[in-house]
Amino acid sequence: MAAEKGTISLIKADVGGYPGHSQVHQELIKRAEECLEEAKGKGLLIDYRVMRCGDDLELLMTHRQGTNNETIHKLAWDTFLACTEVAKRLKLYGAGQDLLVDAFSGTVKGMGPGVAELEFVERPSEPFIAFMGDKTSPGAWNLPVFRIFADPFNSSGLIIDPKMHAGFTFDVLDVKKNSAITLACPEEMYDLLMFLGAYDRYMIRAIHRRADGEIAAVASTDKLSLIAGKYVGKDDPVLLVRTQAGFPAQGEVLEAFAFPHLVEGWMRGSHCGPLMPVSFHQANPTRFDGPPRVIAAGFQLAYGQLVGPVDLFDDPAYDETRRMASRIADYMRRHGPFQPHRLPLEEMEYTTMPQIMARLADRFKSLG
Ligand code: F6R
Ligand code: MG
Ligand code: MG
Repeated sequence: MAAEKGTISLIKADVGGYPGHSQVHQELIKRAEECLEEAKGKGLLIDYRVMRCGDDLELLMTHRQGTNNETIHKLAWDTFLACTEVAKRLKLYGAGQDLLVDAFSGTVKGMGPGVAELEFVERPSEPFIAFMGDKTSPGAWNLPVFRIFADPFNSSGLIIDPKMHAGFTFDVLDVKKNSAITLACPEEMYDLLMFLGAYDRYMIRAIHRRADGEIAAVASTDKLSLIAGKYVGKDDPVLLVRTQAGFPAQGEVLEAFAFPHLVEGWMRGSHCGPLMPVSFHQANPTRFDGPPRVIAAGFQLAYGQLVGPVDLFDDPAYDETRRMASRIADYMRRHGPFQPHRLPLEEMEYTTMPQIMARLADRFKSLG
């Protein structure tokens, strides 16, 4: 991408699971690759990779069309439609489930798929990581992204790298009010944490480096912002993070995932559990449809070409995190339908409460 700006677009959707909500069938991956290969042949894409995390199909694309570009979003939409056809033929589970509208109208935002896009001038060497999660929501990124870009006990670069020393700004979305605020760290860290800790409502959208305003990271919160007010749902999230040379080192970014913190989205989108960092081939949520997973695909960008991926959590250094996540999963599961394993009433994706209340309302006797 030399001196010209280029764009990385990561657009994902669940268009059919196999079996159940656990994986993506190889035929869907093949179909998506055919669609993106054709677009590359026409010169629309510089490069692409098709990946999957659990039941989510992930399209990583590089191009020069900028962010929120209609042609790129339509390509992703049409690719998901083509994969839905395959999913229907194989009677895969929930074929087309994330394509919420019948016709494409300019952007995939608000139509079901999740989107994270970074636009920048490629550095002399441009490493970045694509994180992809399943059985969770964009709020899951709050804790690790805070630690990566604001916690010097995680990222020593905040102290010792001159380009990072001025800190980073955090764009935070309020999904309930459909509004956003930008807060700067380190000065506004305590204000920021007041919001980020409430990760069901406030979610990090983007991070910029304060020294020069350079974009450092972006998460897929757009779907949520656009449907806020109607249904503040969960959406298996993605996150793009640039690393090294003035950004947190790759190891600082990955370090933030060594603690399997509790996130929302497990079983029926109505339970919380530990976020387990796994290798690509282990991104198959099975136990109680989980526990929630995250994979990390590492790349070097070379004039827009994707050199990679490297499966970054395929490392025995994360075995202990996975073991801890399994122990936490045991502990949380023993709560059964009780909070905090089950989510508070207003955050559950499924509920029988209206029917139960309608049936039992008369039996509540006022004590006042
Ligand atoms: C969670 C998830 C699954 C399903 C569960 C029930 O995000 O996708 O845990 O919610 O398997 O699925 P349905 O309602 O399709 O039977
Ligand atoms: Mg599914
Ligand atoms: Mg999923």
